[in-house]
Amino acid sequence: MTLVEICTCLLFLQYMSQNCSSIPYPHNVEPHSDKIPKNSDPAPTTPPTAQPEKPTLLLWVWPENYRWNFSDCKTFYNIDGCHLTDDRSLYNQADAVLIFHKAISWDLSNLPPSPRPPFQKWIWFHVESPTNTKRIPGLENLFNLTLSYRRDADISVRNLLTVSKTPNKFELPKKDKLVCWFVSNTNPSTGTGTRMKYYEDLSKHIKVNIYGKMSGSHLKDEDYYPTMASCKFYLSFENSIHKDYITEKFNGPLSVGTVPVVLGASRENYEQFAPGDSFIHVNDFPDASALAQHLLQLDKDDEAYRRYFDWRKHVSATPHLIIWNQEFITYICHACEYIGIHREYKQAHNIYRWYFS
Ligand SMILES: *[C@@H]1O[C@H](CO)[C@@H](O)[C@H](O)[C@H]1NC(C)=O
Ligand SMILES: *[C@@H]1O[C@H](CO)[C@@H](O)[C@H](O)[C@H]1NC(C)=O
Repeated sequence: MTLVEICTCLLFLQYMSQNCSSIPYPHNVEPHSDKIPKNSDPAPTTPPTAQPEKPTLLLWVWPENYRWNFSDCKTFYNIDGCHLTDDRSLYNQADAVLIFHKAISWDLSNLPPSPRPPFQKWIWFHVESPTNTKRIPGLENLFNLTLSYRRDADISVRNLLTVSKTPNKFELPKKDKLVCWFVSNTNPSTGTGTRMKYYEDLSKHIKVNIYGKMSGSHLKDEDYYPTMASCKFYLSFENSIHKDYITEKFNGPLSVGTVPVVLGASRENYEQFAPGDSFIHVNDFPDASALAQHLLQLDKDDEAYRRYFDWRKHVSATPHLIIWNQEFITYICHACEYIGIHREYKQAHNIYRWYFS
C-alpha cells in the first residue's frame, strides 16, 4: 500500500481538545463536527430503557483491506451515532452504504446490488487527489453523498489545529538530522514527477535523509513519528497539486514538532489549515538551491529555527496517539456521525464534474 494521503492525528487531537474547551484554528472555520448538533438526546417520549434508533451504515469493502474494530469510533472520537457494520446480509436494512472508490471495478460488478432500498443513501468515499483517481464510467450519478478531504464535500473530513485558551507548553524534540523525507511512491505516472524533480535539485545542495521504499530503509509504524520528530525539517511533498489536498505529510510534522517544507497547494491554501509561520513553502524561494541555503542557515541559527514554533503558544498540537495508517478510521467514523444526524433526501449530481473541476 502506498502512503495514504490523509491526515488523522490532528483531527484526533481536535476531538480530544474539544473536551478542554478549545476552539479550532483558524478561528473563523468551524470543524464540520461542531456545526451539527449532537443527537444524544432521545425524544422525550422515549422510555428511559429504550435506545434511540440508530441508522445502519454498511461499509461495503474495507479500504486497502485495513481492518479495525468499529468500536474505535467511540473510543477515539466519541462517535456513536450509527450502527456500523460490514455485514452485507444487512444490505436491505442499511440506511447508508459507504463505497470506497478505489475498490470499485471498471465494470462496476462489485457495486452493491440493484434495486437499492428507496431510503438508502450511497456515499462516494474517496480520499485520493484527482490526479490519482480512476475515472470509472457509470458512477457519475449513482451517489447521494460525497466523503472527501475537500472542504466542499458533503462529509468533509479535515484536520484542524486547535487554538488553546491557555498558554501551551511546547518542548522542541531532540534533533539529530536536518532534512528528512519518507517516501514510498516515486512513480512519475501517479503525478509525483514534480516532487521528484524538486527533490533531485534540492539534494544537490543539502543532505536529505530518506526513509521508505525508495531508500530500502522502511520505517516500522511505531518509529514513524519519533523519526520524524528527530529531524529539523520534513519534506511534506504532496504527490500531486490540488486545492485542499494537504495530507498527513503536513500535519504529521506539525504535530510532532518538526518544520514541514511543503510542496503542494498554494501557500494561501495551506494557511487556511495552519498558521503561516509554522511551515516553509517551496514557492517562497526562487529555486531549490535558495531553499537549501535557507535551511542550512536555520541549522546554524537556533533562535531563528525556534521561531517556527512560536505558533505553539496559541495553537495546540500535542503528539497524537494513533498510528499514521489509521486515517480510514477517521473518515468512516465521520460518515457514521453524519448519517446519525442527517436523514434528508439527497442526490450527488455528476460527482466527476465536481471532483475534477
Ligand atoms: C472490539 O472492541 C470491543 C470493545 O473494546 C470488544 O468488546 C470487542 O471484542 C472487539 N472486537 C474485536 C473483533 O476485536
Ligand atoms: C440517492 O441517489 C439516487 C441517485 O441519484 C436517487 O435515485 C435516490 O432517490 C437517492 N436516495 C436518497 C434516499 O436520497
